[in-house]
Amino acid sequence: MTPKNDACRLVVLISGRGSNMQAIVKTAQDTGVNARVCAVISNKPDAAGLVWAHEQGVDTRVVSHRDYPSREAFDADLARAIDAYEPHYVLLAGFMRVLTPAFVEHFNGRLINIHPSLLPAFPGLHTHQQALALGVQWHGCTVHFVTPVLDHGPILAQGIVPVMASDTINDLSDRLLSVEHAMYERVVRWLAEGRVTLDALQRVHVQGVATRSFVLTSQGVQSPEFCHE
Ligand code: GRF
Repeated sequence: MTPKNDACRLVVLISGRGSNMQAIVKTAQDTGVNARVCAVISNKPDAAGLVWAHEQGVDTRVVSHRDYPSREAFDADLARAIDAYEPHYVLLAGFMRVLTPAFVEHFNGRLINIHPSLLPAFPGLHTHQQALALGVQWHGCTVHFVTPVLDHGPILAQGIVPVMASDTINDLSDRLLSVEHAMYERVVRWLAEGRVTLDALQRVHVQGVATRSFVLTSQGVQSPEFCHE
């Protein structure tokens, strides 16, 4: 948990475009939330998000998985690079590497991911394709604490969008992205305010928050929670 009054120190991991990372950085820089993105780290040297982060004055680093003989060696160096920034939380935002149990254990309770499905449906890759193939009428996204099990762990927030009959994979992923950004922004706020805890059953509680559900409507991304604020 973030100590009261301290800025919540965040390190964000990306592999590509980094639109979720941008939402996180903007939340920390522009909204009065007491959080600071200390670094954006990518496993891919050509990740477009690195350029944007650098332009915002955020430290950027590359730890390329191609430079390491094993997953363990890569994860160990990645952990060292992250630790140098002493973050309260490490946020995965389109970071496309499976992490070793040792890495996950090292950051236990501080490692958070966003996954583009309503978990536990559709873990793994190609979630939009899977949703369209099954004909589900609602698709979603999940922000969750990371455990050694892929795309699994205590749920911080979930959001949904309607699926349209004419949807392509791109239509659906673009629609969902607006919910991802709104949700990650809200989660950063909760973390920075020190309101997030886990109970004995490993369920998330956010002090003073009645629901952590989000939905895309014609009015934009809404949450019943917004009515309580
Ligand atoms: C997002 O859909 C995220 O949920 C998934 O990968 C995508 C990354 O997009 N893990 P971006 O790099 O944040 O724009």
